[in-house]
Amino acid sequence: MSITTDTNDNADLPVFPGVRSQRCPLDPPAEYADWRQAEGLRHVRLWNGHTAWAVTRYEDVRAVLSDPRLSADAQRYPSVLPHTQVPAFPRMDDPDHARLRRMLTADFTVKRVEAMRPEIHEVVERFLDEMISKGQPADLVREYALPIPSLVISLLLGVPYDDHEFFQQHSATMNHANASPQEKAEASGALFGYLLSLVKRKEREPGDDLISRLLTERVAKGELSREEAAMNGMILLFAGHETTANMIGLGTLALLQNPDQAARIRDTDDPAVVANAVEELLRYLSIAQDMIVRVATEDLTIGGQFVRAGEAVTVNLPAANRDTAFLDQPDNVDIDRNTRGHLAFGYGIHQCLGQNLARVELQVALPALLRRLPGLRLAVSLEEVKFRHDMSAYGVHELPVAW
Ligand code: HEM
Repeated sequence: MSITTDTNDNADLPVFPGVRSQRCPLDPPAEYADWRQAEGLRHVRLWNGHTAWAVTRYEDVRAVLSDPRLSADAQRYPSVLPHTQVPAFPRMDDPDHARLRRMLTADFTVKRVEAMRPEIHEVVERFLDEMISKGQPADLVREYALPIPSLVISLLLGVPYDDHEFFQQHSATMNHANASPQEKAEASGALFGYLLSLVKRKEREPGDDLISRLLTERVAKGELSREEAAMNGMILLFAGHETTANMIGLGTLALLQNPDQAARIRDTDDPAVVANAVEELLRYLSIAQDMIVRVATEDLTIGGQFVRAGEAVTVNLPAANRDTAFLDQPDNVDIDRNTRGHLAFGYGIHQCLGQNLARVELQVALPALLRRLPGLRLAVSLEEVKFRHDMSAYGVHELPVAW
């Protein structure tokens, strides 16, 4: 089937994701509210140059993400969906997607992740100690927000953390709007090569980690190839640190902007208050601004819009999570409200595999920071903070802080 989207006739369309105002950098671009109000869907130009329909209403997003007629299969639609040398399950449809995802779910259940909480506490305290001992001002992203999820996912997978600069740098290239397809392919190839040699090493010397378990429990039985095991490791490494890191960085900034809510998190000894606060921050910030693209496998109607087979559809999570049809006063951050049903981790069969881990990391990292450094403040003006308008996961490139 030919793809009807092309890169030449869409120069007039708004670029998606749009750029946020520097005055309200925690709010989605203003035009999203208009798109949500307008009939049908908005035609937009994606960072890769393709045309897509942007879905902005809460109910429409849920409908898209639970509709099997919309495909995430990058092998089938290689010109629109980012693909990798070995197929990766986030870019597959069921049943292939389910076969590979099922092999990983046991490592990300609430129970398994809760068992990691003490270790996550230790990691958090260690990076806090290091940041404090280096002195202020400090870049919170470099010293705290990025290293925590990076070390945690490395421990879980069995990836040597000493290699963190290598995998952080390549993950960032894969996430960057301005990286060329060639640069993205090279970064993804380098990461995959790294994981494949790690897999070969672990076949000889297995450890107590997820990749070793995949090898002994799946590869040895012929249920998974070595390449698929390496690709699963690569996906988790890639997905497991950039996203959470940006929630820690941007979440901290949101709390500094809302000191009464920060105080409530700092002063409570009720874990349920912290857990609820994390859900609200996930909703309010909806950092996954450019992660979800699907292709219609047949003609269909979404939100009153006729969409032809082969056309791309992108899901606008920041807009959907600020829809008044979902909750009242969505532009306020209110850590005590009920945000059940928010879409920050997506919805349907591809809903985030690592969400329980991300939650625990945030539930530990945000209060620990506020408690150890009650005087935490921005070391620059808000206007000087560099926001990640150009990255798939929104956030801050740097967050200079003092205490
Ligand atoms: C706050 C942090 C995070 C956010 C906001 C987030 C967001 C998302 C979103 C929106 C999706 C859906 C993509 C789609 O439908 O195409 C997703 C999928 C995924 N996430 Fe996360 N994520 C986070 C943390 C993590 C972590 C820590 C891991 C791994 C340890 C992870 C692993 C994955 C994987 C493997 C998928 C693909 C699932 C599938 O296709 O079945 N994520 N994430």
